[in-house]
Amino acid sequence: MNVYLEELIRDKKKETPNGKVADYIPELKNVNADNLGIYISDISGNKFFSGDFDKSFTIQSISKIMTLMLAIMDNGEEYVFSKVGMEPSGDPFNSIKKLETSTMKKPANPLINAGAIVVTSTIKGKNKKEKFQRILNFIRKISEDDTLDINYRVYCSESRTGDRNKSLGYFLKDQGIIEESVSETLDVYFKQCSIEITAKHLATIALFLAKNGKNSKDEQIIDPKTVKIVKTLMYTCGLYDESGEFAVKIGIPSKSGVGGGILCVVPDKMGIGVYGPALNRYGNSLAGISVLKELSNKLNLSVL
Ligand code: DON
Repeated sequence: MNVYLEELIRDKKKETPNGKVADYIPELKNVNADNLGIYISDISGNKFFSGDFDKSFTIQSISKIMTLMLAIMDNGEEYVFSKVGMEPSGDPFNSIKKLETSTMKKPANPLINAGAIVVTSTIKGKNKKEKFQRILNFIRKISEDDTLDINYRVYCSESRTGDRNKSLGYFLKDQGIIEESVSETLDVYFKQCSIEITAKHLATIALFLAKNGKNSKDEQIIDPKTVKIVKTLMYTCGLYDESGEFAVKIGIPSKSGVGGGILCVVPDKMGIGVYGPALNRYGNSLAGISVLKELSNKLNLSVL
């Protein structure tokens, strides 16, 4: 398997020049655009990897599935989904237009930026420091690495420049969907997005979801019902306006981030982490998707 993965990464690396590293967060420009790596952790304890599987990058939107789990644990499913929908948006991740026009009167789903900012606003804690610390602790727990922390430069870069997210936040507050302080919510959100991880961490978290919320010691960390919600939303909305094509061609519940990561959950089988910072026009890893397409076909991983 490792030999196959070596060949796969070598081959797909050729596609990285067709993508573009995110630059709307200035600090994200400073990476090697041809990085590409994969890590697979399966249910029997096997590990397979190749390429840049241990290079650190920021988790970005992949953190949205962790905050969703924490928010459901904190507030219950009913409360969370009273503030955010469960429908694919068909729009780019940072789109603002439907916030006013949709009859839903709330963000379409928790994985687009507007929905994720709302979700973060519901995380419990006496102040923004405690809220963020709870998110970090949860991600440390499910990635089984206590040393995870934020990339301070990326955090500062996004909090200095994230005007689109700020506008989403203030509009949602105006609509009464966000009830907490917008500036504190955004600060927690920018911090959660700047947590540094590797493809290996993504595979560990993905395996935890593949095992319906059990860690490597088979301890039940979260309720399987919450995991089911998250996996379903990953399948339908995890790659924004590319989610439909990804479901047809790859068929694995997944979540992408503009740092170049993709976390993929093959239920009851394996967790996959992919890293490739050159992105396609949807803001998803271009070569990463190509790797997953090939792998899913070869190992017959599509869930449908
Ligand atoms: O809020 C943002 O724009 C970034 N911190 C995260 C966006 C993101 O990762 C979109 N995913 N592909």
